[in-house]
Amino acid sequence: MSKIKKCLFPAAGYGTRFLPATKAIPKEMLPVLTKPLLQYGVEEAIEAGLNTMAIVTGRGKRAIEDHFDISYELEHQIKGSSKEEYLTQIRKVIQSCTFSYTRQIEMKGLGHAILTGETLIGEESFAVILADDLCDNEKAGVLSQMVALYEKYKCSIVAVEEVPMQETNKYGVIAGEFIEDNLLKVNDMVEKPNPKDAPSNLAIIGRYILTPDIFDILRETKPGKAGEIQITDALLEQAKKGNVLAYKFEGKRFDCGSVDGFVEATNYFYAKSK
Ligand code: UTP
Repeated sequence: MSKIKKCLFPAAGYGTRFLPATKAIPKEMLPVLTKPLLQYGVEEAIEAGLNTMAIVTGRGKRAIEDHFDISYELEHQIKGSSKEEYLTQIRKVIQSCTFSYTRQIEMKGLGHAILTGETLIGEESFAVILADDLCDNEKAGVLSQMVALYEKYKCSIVAVEEVPMQETNKYGVIAGEFIEDNLLKVNDMVEKPNPKDAPSNLAIIGRYILTPDIFDILRETKPGKAGEIQITDALLEQAKKGNVLAYKFEGKRFDCGSVDGFVEATNYFYAKSK
């Protein structure tokens, strides 16, 4: 299996926790300071050496495509002024990679969104970033850390974080055995377990590397928790064959899908920018 080049961004969800803001604006376009969440994710993927961004969108998400494109009117308007520098970073992003899009017609869950992206990925291992999980690390980004592990182990990898036991019902939770510092071989996974049923407090966050056999498994995966096709259920099939690692990443993670996490991220990046 060759190097990871593609990153899939499932971005079709309704973002109901951010209504009414997300009525007409995709959740992934909400800005932390002046940059949309999705741009942070794309920059993390570029830093990890990826150059092909595959975005699963849905109705009302056109702003995403416009963001990763040139706005001639705007460029013309601010040309030669000091404001031009505000566009430097996004220009660099647009030049560093390609973007392709497909639409999820019905929102049947994260697993279904990933399966919808198959047409953009094909038969190769790929990364997945959920842009509402905003990650930051001084040295290598979280996806960079995972790509380095993939080069060694060539199997699916999920990023995990210890969460308070009473919060396990918000996450996919894994159980496994340590094979290196911060790296476990996964032997069980449960989607949003009640704390009393959770196999550990190691929660999967929005960074994955997946081998392409995941698509065939997802095709066969029945709707699980909340009637949605869960990526956790498909990953459990790979884990049963010993093919999933869980990585306790270095860095910070903000759950920007929730108001509390979003405010925390804003304060953190504001303090960092000063
Ligand atoms: P979330 O459950 O966090 O997103 O899904 P949501 O459904 O948009 O948010 P709430 O709970 O209603 O506020 C995690 C990620 O999976 C994507 C979302 O866009 C988000 O990035 N997703 C989820 C899809 O692309 N399609 C789906 O059917 C479900």
